[in-house]
Amino acid sequence: MVNRVSDPNSLEPIEMASIDELRALQLERLAWSIGHAYDNCAPYRAKCDVAGVTPADLRSLEDLSLFPFTVKDDLRQSYPFGMFAVPQRDVVRIHASSGTTGKPTVVGYTRNDIDMWATVVARSIHASGGGPDDLIHVAYGYGLFTGGLGAHYGAEKLGATVIPVSGGQTPKQVQLIQDFKPDIIMVTPSYMLNIADEFERQGLDPAASSLKIGIFGAEPWGESMRKEIEERCGLDAVDIYGLSEVIGPGVANECIETKDGPVIWEDHFYPEIVNPESGEPVADGEMGELVFTSLTKEALPIIRYRTRDLTRLLPGTARTMRRMDKITGRSDDMLIIRGVNVFPTQIEERVLAVGALAPHYQIRVSRDGKLDVITVKVEKTAAAKDAESAAVAGELKKGIKDYVGVSAIIEVCEPGEVARSEGKAVRVIDERGS
Ligand code: DLL
Repeated sequence: MVNRVSDPNSLEPIEMASIDELRALQLERLAWSIGHAYDNCAPYRAKCDVAGVTPADLRSLEDLSLFPFTVKDDLRQSYPFGMFAVPQRDVVRIHASSGTTGKPTVVGYTRNDIDMWATVVARSIHASGGGPDDLIHVAYGYGLFTGGLGAHYGAEKLGATVIPVSGGQTPKQVQLIQDFKPDIIMVTPSYMLNIADEFERQGLDPAASSLKIGIFGAEPWGESMRKEIEERCGLDAVDIYGLSEVIGPGVANECIETKDGPVIWEDHFYPEIVNPESGEPVADGEMGELVFTSLTKEALPIIRYRTRDLTRLLPGTARTMRRMDKITGRSDDMLIIRGVNVFPTQIEERVLAVGALAPHYQIRVSRDGKLDVITVKVEKTAAAKDAESAAVAGELKKGIKDYVGVSAIIEVCEPGEVARSEGKAVRVIDERGS
């Protein structure tokens, strides 16, 4: 592993500004953003009217809590472009996020928005240890999904050389990595594992590839997964976070020197953590739902957007700006099994703790009478293919019972039998119906 450290002289001044300077900038930008949403986004103005607030009520950053939340459903109800705050001729790009149900959530960008987005992604790649001399293999999907094009514009803005591969065609991903010798890969962590498997299928050692840094995000992944990928692929694995409604990838990114949770680029995205039930803000350090307000976005200013992602805010370390803890999961991915809250990432930790198991897993939730039942489908590693399945299942079952607190049915398959991801992994299959 290289453990590159980003050169402090090449940071943007705001990355090292004092907290006071940062807060002053945020307040100035917040006042602009709320005013812009109120004046130009009719659905948000209507919400403010119901709540009896106007932009004049914002005198401090704390006053943000007076303003109404925006939720995914607000965007759905104004599908496709009803929340845009600029005329369509000023919108130069559309992306959309396909939810699990119903219509996609549509987002738009002005030219300035695209430039700001490229800036924060360039900053993210730089925080990850990348620079203008690097070749960057982008295996996030290109298209309506923000991953591919978001990474692409950021890498170009940094002056790196981009290889726009997109997702899929896994054998070709390996061929291009072997032939072009990129330094950095940007991809979901689950697809990275799939690519690593393909290296091995071709008789190649993924750790011997040219890749030195992986910038992984778009889905939850825990510390055990980081360790697994770093050891197996011989690279530094860094976390990138983002969501379409706020901009796309690059809302926050880990610094390679600390790897202690993504730094939120607070000069553009103002974070809050709220109690998911009451909506009340909680103090930094406490767990809750992450809420974002855009500070500079023109086409789709977003005020107090409820992400449903569960995490906590942590003080700055490598940068002045606050960090977020690695995401535990989304409130809508949380399973309640006989009264116990379970996140897929907790199951992931236990799967990775069993030496004979590959890091691929899928959770099925079904119903037995009135009770929910979870079945965890896992597979043996090629090296452990002769291990006795019942013993391996017993080890995982015990780990889940001891650490997560639920009884699960374990289905141990042969190597290669668990569905592979080419983008965001589908971790939970819900067979309960409604
Ligand atoms: O996934 C944007 C993105 C692309 C981020 C590439 C990073 C890399 P959406 O499709 O709108 O946007 O999905 C956003 O994905 O609310 C989280 O639940 C989840 N997510 C994104 N990054 C992370 C991460 C993109 N690093 C939703 N860790 C978010 C955990 C993540 N979850």
